[in-house]
Amino acid sequence: MLLYIGFRVPRPMVGRGAAAAGACHRTDMEVIIQPTQEAAADLVARIIAHDLRANPHLVLGLATGSTMERVYGGLVRMHRQENLDFSLCTTFNLDEYVGLAPEDANSYRFYMNRHLFDGVNIDKRNTHLPCGVAPDLDAECRDYEALIKRSGGIDFQLLGIGRAGHIGFNEPLSALQSRTRVKALTPTTIEQNAPFFGGPEKMPRRAMTMGVGTIIEARRCVLLATGGAKAQVLAQAVEGPITSMISATALQLHPRCTVVVDEAAAAGLQEREYYRWIFENEPEWEEYRGKR
Ligand code: F6R
Repeated sequence: MLLYIGFRVPRPMVGRGAAAAGACHRTDMEVIIQPTQEAAADLVARIIAHDLRANPHLVLGLATGSTMERVYGGLVRMHRQENLDFSLCTTFNLDEYVGLAPEDANSYRFYMNRHLFDGVNIDKRNTHLPCGVAPDLDAECRDYEALIKRSGGIDFQLLGIGRAGHIGFNEPLSALQSRTRVKALTPTTIEQNAPFFGGPEKMPRRAMTMGVGTIIEARRCVLLATGGAKAQVLAQAVEGPITSMISATALQLHPRCTVVVDEAAAAGLQEREYYRWIFENEPEWEEYRGKR
């Protein structure tokens, strides 16, 4: 418990959070290994769908990036084929590039419309991202935090992990208590995302991002990582020491964090067999086993 010193301890799961979480109250990180990236993304989409069905007013924290495209594809499919209902749901994205307007094809607002919002019955007035061209970026970040608070906090935070170990754009040395703010991107992140912009020189150097402290307050966190390029940093994030150099390590402090990976991203994990045993045997995961 000493590790919580300096943190705002995440709220207990009461009210809507408890409904979304179901009866089981876990307090440890869990790792689920799936055979392929498709299976891993599909599992994450089904976890989100499960929580959204349990709580139609779910406040959903969202991530962008290549890894998430399959998750959103799965949610759109479930909306069309299984009437998964987003009409009462509210969303907050983790981040947005500074200097990019919502209509810019590289903005995260554009990405979200394209991959999720335009494909489901969500009320776009309930979808939130920081505005990359706000005249006062600090005020924009403060307002974003206040809006999350007014919405009752985030019930379910979806996360990816960058090659530099970031969640959101919490690059190395992000304070573990940090809130939404402007953050300069590392060369590793610029290299990772430059192909979308047609080269590193065209990429924004800064982004607005929820802080590590903001993320850790979500009632539930689910991180998805796929592909061998993430194996080393994923192992550090899950099994390494907690450090602001790898903001994803802060998730070890979260009371309800599930990490879903494919075999390639799991390759660096020491305790793979233990994680597999838990997934195969814990009643909580029964409805997710052996399905695609
Ligand atoms: C973006 C975000 C980032 C990405 C991460 C992985 O909103 O939250 O942390 O999740 O950079 O990106 P991909 O999936 O493109 O490897």
